Amino acid sequence: MLTRALGVSSCLRRIATPNIVKRTVMTTNLQPKFEKLFDRIDALKPAFIERLGQAVEIPAVSGDETLRPQVVKKAHFLVDQLSKLGFTDIQLKHLGKQPPPTSIPDLQLPPVVLSRFGNDPSKKTVLVYGHYDVQPASLEDGWDTEPFKMYVDEKLQLMRGRGTTDDTGPLTGWLNVVQAHKEAGVELPVNLVTCFEGMEESGSLGLDDLIAREAQGYFKGVDAVCISDNYWLGTKKPVLTYGLRGVNYYQTTVEGPAADLHSGIFGGVVAEPLVDLTQVLSSLVDSKGKILIDGIDEMVAPLTEKEKKLYENIDFSLDDLNAATGSQTALYNKKEDILMHRWRYPSLSLHGVEGAFSSAGAKTVIPAKVHGKFSIRTVPDIDSDKLTKLVQDHCNKVFAKLGSPNKCSTELVHDGNYWVSDPHNASFTAAAKATKDVYGVEPDLTREGGSIPITLTFQDQLKCNVLLLPMGRGDDGAHSINEKLDISNFVGGMKMMGAYLHYYAESKEN
Ligand code: BES
Ligand code: MN
Ligand code: MN
Repeated sequence: MLTRALGVSSCLRRIATPNIVKRTVMTTNLQPKFEKLFDRIDALKPAFIERLGQAVEIPAVSGDETLRPQVVKKAHFLVDQLSKLGFTDIQLKHLGKQPPPTSIPDLQLPPVVLSRFGNDPSKKTVLVYGHYDVQPASLEDGWDTEPFKMYVDEKLQLMRGRGTTDDTGPLTGWLNVVQAHKEAGVELPVNLVTCFEGMEESGSLGLDDLIAREAQGYFKGVDAVCISDNYWLGTKKPVLTYGLRGVNYYQTTVEGPAADLHSGIFGGVVAEPLVDLTQVLSSLVDSKGKILIDGIDEMVAPLTEKEKKLYENIDFSLDDLNAATGSQTALYNKKEDILMHRWRYPSLSLHGVEGAFSSAGAKTVIPAKVHGKFSIRTVPDIDSDKLTKLVQDHCNKVFAKLGSPNKCSTELVHDGNYWVSDPHNASFTAAAKATKDVYGVEPDLTREGGSIPITLTFQDQLKCNVLLLPMGRGDDGAHSINEKLDISNFVGGMKMMGAYLHYYAESKEN
């Protein structure tokens, strides 16, 4: 099942090349009290890698509607694993039909997997959230190995495959932590509740309602929520995260002719939808990253002196950004500007055009109907509904100026809230101690430019603190080709998760 690096003899593997030395983050084991647990995590490493390999093999792409049965299959795989590990009250929660726009009628949303480990009223209860769906991936995109066959690179000590870092690796990490406790004979210090969804990469559709419904049901008594679905800022220093941007995803459709046309016969005599659409798309943002839609900047919370100071102490540089993109395409040179534009200012990205010719070769077609896809990362205090109105008004205005006989409309596909919290609470303190025990350093406190739509919902509905405890590194290539998770981060991450549960259990407040 696992493809291993061929031709690397075990003798060669023992030779530490400078490359390996540079990549490996040393994990320290300062706390004798976690010795049993940490030793067991080390000992179970092959089994944990095997489990991740099995999970990665299921192409659970939530954004590809034709792959929905695979997403469901992965939910059942998790149920099977959870029940073998002794989790109880395992429930698959169905969320009904996927709302439009969809290309498959009556498409069911993938189920949410709920389960518990322990139900002791004298212990605190921690809810761990993860998503088992993944981004699309295919070998043709430029992967070095099959994206849905996990490849263990013995030389670089990493696991490559879609979902290794986002988010299948961290999600299975929680299962592994429970297994390690059991096999080490160490009692789990908290009750654990799992909430694993299969629609995160497509806007967590249906999950808000489920959480509202279960706040006083399945989730009653939850003291803290821990999400391990983000990454260190760079490659060496661990972080804890207290903020995320939101995201509003839009689709602008331009349609005219009843069917695709031959450009030799109709070129020059009909209004072309793709020509109109590119005008609309190019009016949204400029090449310096400035959003050209009026009224958005006014909604952004002003930068205070106190906040400005926070950026100075973060361990990050332009080089880190360039290393992560494998290029020199940054829009800003200064660390502070890069971080602020990633974390606290909105951005608008163009993602693609559905319906337009996109294969190799030269096809002389006029597409009849095209959908332009773009999204805006949102930040405090942007209001989602107001933003949508501004976007629609802008697109309608630009299209009207074209004087085209085609039809143009813009719709919101999904929106997910931003989240910013105060990191000075028992959960963050416990996670900082756990990080120090495993990695020997105090973590940086960071925000993120990406989005996990459900974070704010957990905080509001369960009325408790949410902690983002990342496992992977900034160069893991989430959503990109050759997504990977370093084995040292996998192992270190699980130790951190385990130690976090113990420190949190010991803390006086919630
Ligand atoms: N794990 C990411 C969230 C993330 C991204 C955290 C970057 C930190 C840095 C998550 O799986 C994700 O990709 N979310 C989507 C949400 C969207 C589809 C609603 C995103 O941010 O694009
Ligand atoms: Mn994720
Ligand atoms: Mn993702």
